Amino acid sequence: MTDALLTVEDLTISFPSDNGPVPVVKSISLTVAREIVAVVGESGSGKSLTGRAIMGLLPCRAHVRASRMLFEGIDLQTLGPAGWNGLRGSGMGLILQDPKFSLNPAHRVGRQVEEALLLHTKLSARERKQRALDMLARVGLPDPERVYASYPAALSGGMGQRVMIAAMLINRPMLIIADEPTSALDRGLQDQVLTLLRSLTEEFGMGLLLISHDLQQVSRYADRVIVMRQGEIVERLPASELAQAQTAYTRGLWAARPSFATYGTRLPVFEDSGRPS
Ligand SMILES: Nc1ncnc2c1ncn2[C@@H]1O[C@H](COP(=O)(O)OP(=O)(O)OP(=O)(O)O)[C@@H](O)[C@H]1O
Ligand SMILES: [Mg+2]
Repeated sequence: MTDALLTVEDLTISFPSDNGPVPVVKSISLTVAREIVAVVGESGSGKSLTGRAIMGLLPCRAHVRASRMLFEGIDLQTLGPAGWNGLRGSGMGLILQDPKFSLNPAHRVGRQVEEALLLHTKLSARERKQRALDMLARVGLPDPERVYASYPAALSGGMGQRVMIAAMLINRPMLIIADEPTSALDRGLQDQVLTLLRSLTEEFGMGLLLISHDLQQVSRYADRVIVMRQGEIVERLPASELAQAQTAYTRGLWAARPSFATYGTRLPVFEDSGRPS
């Protein structure tokens, strides 16, 4: 697709070991335009590390090399800490799995939703509050004034995830990386949150890199799919064709649909036959 917001070429991530560096992401290339690109693959295939590398959030032990990592013309490999801070609050956002770990329990919701505006804009306190209340309403939270004044402990999981999305989108980033954004929620809430993410992505003209275990869900919400295995991209296909995937590996992932009951348990890793081990 043309007009890529993000271009990654030949990205390799390795960790040191006694026997030298061990690559866990191996020379992968991808682009994201104003669309939803899903990254799927078995546990340990390198999905989260890929997302974190794009956000500059890898553990410091990790060694990253790429022939290109461009976001809106910015060379991500040359950014220093100040450059990253500027970009993360305004150009790119990360949504993680569980609001319990992403929201600070000691601060009211309003302050956390406004944080990107405080750090990256010159809006007045009154303007920030108005933007936060608008965004809380926009993500479907009833009674935004009450949510704004609440502490995270007062929110259900689904409400917490909507607050996280509001906090990420308030400064209108161009690219969102969502790492399993709904796997801590029950099935009905998952669909609501993904429907919301999909419509906001379209409305704001954003790109979304959606990391997920759930291929059947991805087939309904994404535009394109990248399939990873052992640090490599093994298949690329339109989301609408996932059900007819040709490789045994992707078919195995399609059949191994995670459920709320398996949340928190280890998902199958596939043998070379493509069958769960
Ligand atoms: N800090 C680290 N040090 C060494 N190896 C790591 C580290 N973090 C991740 N790895 C290894 O890198 C590989 C890819 O990890 P990653 O978290 O990207 O997988 P994933 O595809 O997101 O898996 P999951 O579906 O379970 O979230 C794994 O084999 C993991 O063991
Ligand atoms: Mg992961």
